[in-house]
Amino acid sequence: MCGIVGAVAERNITAILLEGLKRLEYRGYDSAGVAVFTNDEKLERMRRPGKVSELENALEAEPLVGRLGIAHTRWATHGAPCERNAHPHFSGDLAVVHNGIIENHEALREQLKALGYVFTSDTDTEVIAHLLNHKLKDLPDLTAALKTTVKELHGAYGLAVISAKQPDRLVAARSGSPLVIGLGLGENFLASDQLALRQVTDRFMYLEEGDIAEIRRDSVHIWDVDGKAVERETVQYRDGAEAADKGEFRHFMLKEIHEQPSVVQRTLEGRLSPNGVLVQAFGPQAAELFAKVRNVQIVACGTSYHAGMVARYWLEELAGIPCQVEVASEFRYRKVVVQPDTLFVTISQSGETADTLAALRNAKELSREEGGYLASLAICNVGISSLVRESDLTLLTQAGREIGVASTKAFTTQLVGLLLLTLSLGQVRGTLAKGVEATLVEELRRLPTRLGEALAMDSTVEKIAELFAEKNHTLFLGRGAQFPVAMEGALKLKEISYIHAEAYPAGELKHGPLALVDNDMPVVTVAPNNELLEKLKSNLQEVRARGGQLIVFADERSGMTNGEGTHVVHMPHIHDILSPILYTIPLQLLSYYVAVLKGTDVDQPRNLAKSVTVE
Ligand code: G6P
Repeated sequence: MCGIVGAVAERNITAILLEGLKRLEYRGYDSAGVAVFTNDEKLERMRRPGKVSELENALEAEPLVGRLGIAHTRWATHGAPCERNAHPHFSGDLAVVHNGIIENHEALREQLKALGYVFTSDTDTEVIAHLLNHKLKDLPDLTAALKTTVKELHGAYGLAVISAKQPDRLVAARSGSPLVIGLGLGENFLASDQLALRQVTDRFMYLEEGDIAEIRRDSVHIWDVDGKAVERETVQYRDGAEAADKGEFRHFMLKEIHEQPSVVQRTLEGRLSPNGVLVQAFGPQAAELFAKVRNVQIVACGTSYHAGMVARYWLEELAGIPCQVEVASEFRYRKVVVQPDTLFVTISQSGETADTLAALRNAKELSREEGGYLASLAICNVGISSLVRESDLTLLTQAGREIGVASTKAFTTQLVGLLLLTLSLGQVRGTLAKGVEATLVEELRRLPTRLGEALAMDSTVEKIAELFAEKNHTLFLGRGAQFPVAMEGALKLKEISYIHAEAYPAGELKHGPLALVDNDMPVVTVAPNNELLEKLKSNLQEVRARGGQLIVFADERSGMTNGEGTHVVHMPHIHDILSPILYTIPLQLLSYYVAVLKGTDVDQPRNLAKSVTVE
């Protein structure tokens, strides 16, 4: 989505801004622009629809040279993607770039028009520029005026502002849309993602919700939401370290498992309003399209397919929308009957999986004919991937680069994306039960903390793993939305420990797999405290009666306790809808520690590839 880059330095900053924009391209955007306080002391801008390269060409023809500037890649929400709507927006001596959505922009626009301000774009952002300009009449200090301006803004914003009258600084504000300050020597920078600034610095200061920052060449001042001057911690990254370095962890997989609270947080950033989900997160035309959706078809491979299976439970239970899920390698060769008004959803970490891409292409062929798909949506972790480029709508998961072949953080961020999709569809179609959206948004906000609590059980799970070291087969059981979680647990175990593992819906146990259960066949179960718990307990009795060893990850309120042949690990209590995300964590840890005990190549298991780009 939108990206921000800013710089205040002693040298010309235009090339730095452009390089920053290029590094943010993966997020998806449809126009780009830059504003510079030039060396001949004028505020000038260049904006172009399309790629950053278009802007770059335009700047080659007519260079802007200066030591203070801001730049932006825009993904259109309010107003079409054209030059007039591209950021930066001007008002008098001010230039503003903005990520997020100002919800009260219409009311503000009317007030400002009445005061004589003339609007030249259809964006919500332009109201910020005029409002700040207006505040400057009474409060000439730019930082002070920004502090009063943001008090009148409702919605989400990451803002950067420069003024020709106060060219010693760049000012910024964050609420619901991330911003990070890059610290240089005698120069400082700002961006919506530190990736944009890695070419100029490795020291960063992340703004927190409600922060206002005044960034000068040689100083940074920050005020918190209450207006109190604060210091934010400086984080130093070793060059290229973020993805390619295991840090304190023995394997990338373990590092990636432990990153889940922060990447889930990032995947939620800028996508929630106080009581709901921002439907625009799926693209500017999402609301209009979602209103027409009557069915959902999900197609994916491997771990991503399991995420889709969880989503089916959510879509039908919460949004009342019929959903079908299928592995791409089957779907692509099948003659399908398309239900009317079906949204075609692909899920992929890489966005380059050959079968998933082929399925999307087939679906698009169909949509050209009468009775094809309504639209395509990709839930993907790579913004510049083919899947994203070829889909109508996109939601990028923010898992960061995943190196371990066995997918972990990509899965949990996909689940978050799919829950946002469920709530968005339900919201637009009015099919959610009263209060559900606000409750689940609240629960989603708490999710990173809950995931951290589950990760704190690391050493408990490591001990449990010893039970598997000599085993050759394992059964994973779950009911409801925990069945796909059990499937993902079984997949993880076989991928990296090479132990044969199968997942079954617990109710199917008696129809076959029970014949396999004996003392050599550990049975792993996920048991949140929901209406299926009592039924699940009966299934577990069936296992115990045959001498099977049970490993149960159970809600702390489930009343389940250790017994002979039964190992119960208590999980933090969580809302049932979010439990598939939480219960994935101990299963990831379990397969990791079993693989370590077996001495396999955890990050690059035999015969497997991270991204399967051939059929
Ligand atoms: C490979 C990987 C899996 C992944 C699957 C789908 O098999 O090893 O971890 O789940 O591809 O990949 P995708 O990038 O489409 O999610």
